[in-house]
Amino acid sequence: MTEDFNQFDSFGFDDFSDEGTDTETLAPATAFEAGSDVRLPNGAALAVVDTDQAVRDYLASQLGEGVAALGSLSELEPRLGLGPVVVVLGPSCVDPTDLATVERWSRTNSEVGAILVTSELSTTLLHTALRAGVKDVLSAPIDQMQLVDTVARVAEGLAMWPPSVMPGAPANADLLEPMEGEPGRVITVFSTKGGSGKSVTATNIAVALARTSDNPVVLIDGHLQFGDVAVMLKIQPQHTVVDAISQIEKLDPGMLLQLMTIHEPSGLHVLPAPLEPTFADQITGEQMVRMVEMLRGFAGHVIIDLPALFNDVVLSLIEVSDDIILVAGLDIPNIKNVKIGLSTLSLLNVSRDKLHLVLNRADSKVKLDVGEVEKTLQIHAVAHVPSDVVVPISVNRGSPVVLSAPKSEVAREFEKLAARFLTGTGVQAGSTSGRRRFFGG
Ligand SMILES: Nc1ncnc2c1ncn2[C@@H]1O[C@H](COP(=O)(O)OP(=O)(O)OP(=O)(O)O)[C@@H](O)[C@H]1O
Ligand SMILES: [Mg+2]
Repeated sequence: MTEDFNQFDSFGFDDFSDEGTDTETLAPATAFEAGSDVRLPNGAALAVVDTDQAVRDYLASQLGEGVAALGSLSELEPRLGLGPVVVVLGPSCVDPTDLATVERWSRTNSEVGAILVTSELSTTLLHTALRAGVKDVLSAPIDQMQLVDTVARVAEGLAMWPPSVMPGAPANADLLEPMEGEPGRVITVFSTKGGSGKSVTATNIAVALARTSDNPVVLIDGHLQFGDVAVMLKIQPQHTVVDAISQIEKLDPGMLLQLMTIHEPSGLHVLPAPLEPTFADQITGEQMVRMVEMLRGFAGHVIIDLPALFNDVVLSLIEVSDDIILVAGLDIPNIKNVKIGLSTLSLLNVSRDKLHLVLNRADSKVKLDVGEVEKTLQIHAVAHVPSDVVVPISVNRGSPVVLSAPKSEVAREFEKLAARFLTGTGVQAGSTSGRRRFFGG
């Protein structure tokens, strides 16, 4: 990289120095203070890193006075853990070693928000950077306004960790009273065939339980690649499983509670799937289990919607489940796959007592005899959910059938299924009066 300031245009930075641009007017009014340790409104510090001094000075000059301009990421290391910091990575930081450092930070430190500025943006670089936990990538040509906006946005993201949600300081302590007696019941909703109705089942029983139970009920979207839970419940989550898992070392119940989105009509706590499928493969089964174990310390029920495949995350979650709801569509390919799935689960030593078979779209019109299917699978179905247009309507509306069509046969089956999981939690099915609202109301 050149030492010649005039050559910055060659990798696309606009040179504002001759235009007399007032950075103070572009940055949020109180964003930057003079001094070597610039602080953003949320208290985040701001640093620029590039091996080339001219480049880092240039980038720093675009962000206001007093930005810490550093020659290497290692210089930033001592600052970590001392509060939030936004770091603008110059083009030299596309180096794999630097990205590996950023990845380590983003896995272990919730307070670092990295932005990468690059002269040549390829799809590969974008994926690599995002996987490393970089919050945004700016490519040539960039302008000062864009840079300042991005810094402010990333800083805002870090500001979502106010002191009240940091470890040891739960915001809503009364919700975090440890469960009396048994820990919460973990229920995974699984099938061996995609599209069989897992998410419909998971959202309906979770909402039914949340409306009935006196204890917090949590729904986790474990379909990390393409989760549908947020859409099916019409919620706009601020945080996802990725946010929780990226904090796993520091995570405590108070933080977890803050990360979840409340489904207002039922009081259900929801932790949705990541918005970007690329983040899914960063999450391990062991991390998910740690999170679930924490959740069951204060939640009466933890329901997990799973994808139709056996991977590390799925197997780990099935292993720690008290109940596994196996959803099967009523057609030959589904039944064949359930049979294979049942033998896999048996090989994994999953007790049959934990398994609850749900036959979905189970009605006379499909010309498959339910009794015969149960005989073939050697397992009795605990629910027969008919095929009904109320289901796609409810999915499209983002309102589960138990709320939007409570009198339908489908809703009644889901209510009955949910009631099976209330035994032992001290709550009786149908007693909605004692429902606990978590955030006011
Ligand atoms: N009983 C039913 N009657 C009518 N339609 C249904 C029924 N159950 C599910 N569906 C429809 O089938 C579609 C797939 O359901 P759902 O998303 O719950 O499946 P899934 O098993 O979670 O799929 P994936 O494997 O992709 O996660 C939904 O759009 C829903 O509208
Ligand atoms: Mg699904």
